[in-house]
Amino acid sequence: MAIGTSSIDFAKRLDATADDTEALLTRLLSDDLLPDETARPPRLMAAMRYSSLGGGKRLRPFLVVESAAVFGVTREAALLVGAALECIHCYSLIHDDLPAMDNSDLRRGRPTLHKAYDDATAILAGDALLTLAFDIITRDEIHRDPMVRLLLTRALARASGIGGMAGGQILDLAGEGRFGDREPVDVARLQQMKTGALLRFGCVAGAILGQSSPEQYKALENYGRALGEAFQIADDLLDVEGDAEALGKPAGADAALGKTTFVTQLGIDGAKQRIADLLARADQALSMFGAKGDVLRAAAHFVAARKN
Ligand code: IPE
Ligand code: IPE
Ligand code: MG
Ligand code: MG
Ligand code: MG
Repeated sequence: MAIGTSSIDFAKRLDATADDTEALLTRLLSDDLLPDETARPPRLMAAMRYSSLGGGKRLRPFLVVESAAVFGVTREAALLVGAALECIHCYSLIHDDLPAMDNSDLRRGRPTLHKAYDDATAILAGDALLTLAFDIITRDEIHRDPMVRLLLTRALARASGIGGMAGGQILDLAGEGRFGDREPVDVARLQQMKTGALLRFGCVAGAILGQSSPEQYKALENYGRALGEAFQIADDLLDVEGDAEALGKPAGADAALGKTTFVTQLGIDGAKQRIADLLARADQALSMFGAKGDVLRAAAHFVAARKN
């Protein structure tokens, strides 16, 4: 644990952001119509709430709130950006679990959305969460300067799309040999895209909101890159070493699907060593922030040591 942030402080801060995010998402997913909306169909709303409320660590909103706190940005603005990012994350999980992708029955300790509802509802709930994210991130309350909102919107789009999460997901499936011959997989690139891009966005969002210097932005980007990779290696290790009860999702799924991960490439010890190297890199990236970087430093260690 980083000097200056006890594990109790860290857990309290993570809980507080999770509670605030839950309250905000509950409000954003209410039945109240926004201007230009004709109706909020009850089945779609229920499915979106099922997959985005009442679960998850809310790590991505936490990274937004804590990176924004480094620059003294208001918590309300950071929480809205965090909620937009969490909507993208929840949509990515819904689609990741579909029969056509990882075909998973359990998520956050409950049946996956397509199991609880049906595939079509799950596809549409994912689509609607994706578009809701962009509705949220353009809202006036986020920043008085529209250019800041535009930069955030573009960064979120790039993190989610072709060169980010969606692109990484197709590389992940290609790595299983889904589309014909199994091609050699660049695991670092695959992971930087499928999981790293959204986590990295969470870390640079604070710098964009806080109108940081280019050096500060770069430092948070380097931190986010290291944290993102450590996060996915930990996820891959948990798939091998964890159990469904603690994870709230199936264990052993990657091997069953023939996924290529750092664990298959480096072995368990090699993957753990790589996490240790990435933590050192994350700490180093934060050095320019001094004590203001303590919570983010602790977040990287949390990601590496997590049990779910
Ligand atoms: C799980 O992400 C999916 C991956 C990107 C590996 P999280 O472990 O952050 O999932 P929740 O939000 O806490 O359920
Ligand atoms: C999924 O990675 C990442 C995204 C949803 C973009 P995984 O397939 O490893 O996530 P889990 O293990 O199902 O949570
Ligand atoms: Mg997957
Ligand atoms: Mg999966
Ligand atoms: Mg996984």
